Amino acid sequence: MPFDPVYDRVAQVIPPMEWATMQDDVRAIQALKRDRRAVILAHNYQTPEIFHGVADIMGDSLALAREAEKSNADVILVAGVHFMAETAKLMNPTKTVLIPDTRAGCSLAESITPADIALLRAAHPGVPVIAYVNTSAAVKAASDICCTSGNAKRVVESLDVPKVIMLPDEYLAQNIARETEVKIIAWAGHCEVHERFTAAEIRALRQSHPGVVILAHPECPPEVVAEADFSGSTAVMADYVSTNQPPRVALITECSMSDNISLLNPNIEFVRPCNLCPHMKRITLKNIRAALETMQTEVVIDPAHFAPARRAVERMLAVR
Ligand code: 13P
Ligand code: SF4
Repeated sequence: MPFDPVYDRVAQVIPPMEWATMQDDVRAIQALKRDRRAVILAHNYQTPEIFHGVADIMGDSLALAREAEKSNADVILVAGVHFMAETAKLMNPTKTVLIPDTRAGCSLAESITPADIALLRAAHPGVPVIAYVNTSAAVKAASDICCTSGNAKRVVESLDVPKVIMLPDEYLAQNIARETEVKIIAWAGHCEVHERFTAAEIRALRQSHPGVVILAHPECPPEVVAEADFSGSTAVMADYVSTNQPPRVALITECSMSDNISLLNPNIEFVRPCNLCPHMKRITLKNIRAALETMQTEVVIDPAHFAPARRAVERMLAVR
């Protein structure tokens, strides 16, 4: 095979035969990006051919929200799930924001509605509502401020109140509650990927892989986070790995993340317990190409939700 600089980036995790089935789409997407003046934002859980092959901006939910705000392209294609595309649209009202498959949802986003927030507010009058970015624009609009797993503690403490409502991720709320004096009222939403990890699995991993450094996403149950050496958002985990270069590491999160990060850290052995996010995996090279060809599906936000949802995201981005 002639030298291909894009393949060179992913050759450690994609066999040549598989790459041969992807090459044509990768080339077509690169050309379409130029024609459409488009950028591709890819979450850390996208597969390597998307993350390293066609994306322009990669990161966790917080980084994608920030970068979406800065982009000067005409079109933003989100290789991620629906709430991420909505956040990109909130921050770029005049740009065309595309999502290749509108069914790319999220179990957390689906676990709560604005009506649930109204009930919580009635039960806890005056207590501010913090919505995880993994929520619909309608839920963000009904909240006071957003947070991500990368800034949740800072957002909670920035409000300078003794008590907050943090929704919908019960485990994220419990994990943050252990790090702050602020009392946190939680909701019972869970990530269907991270809730599957167990403390027993982490202990077994340590036994079978001596010396392994274990990093867990804060959407994992608290007893799993307690067994880990470190916990943080996907970007915080990636930074930890590249800065500390542990010889052997296990990322307790969605499994494409290990593929993507291993390519940037060739001297580290990645132990890979594997839970896939079926929603993230709905995004493929084929539907990215089709989305740029047809300019479908465009993300549209109900005008009634737009301004208050954007305000909740902006308030979060202002927290340093
Ligand atoms: P991050 O913000 O850590 O990337 O998490 C987003 C997400 O959906 C994790 O499941
Ligand atoms: Fe939602 Fe979990 Fe998938 Fe992240 S990994 S998008 S929280 S279902």
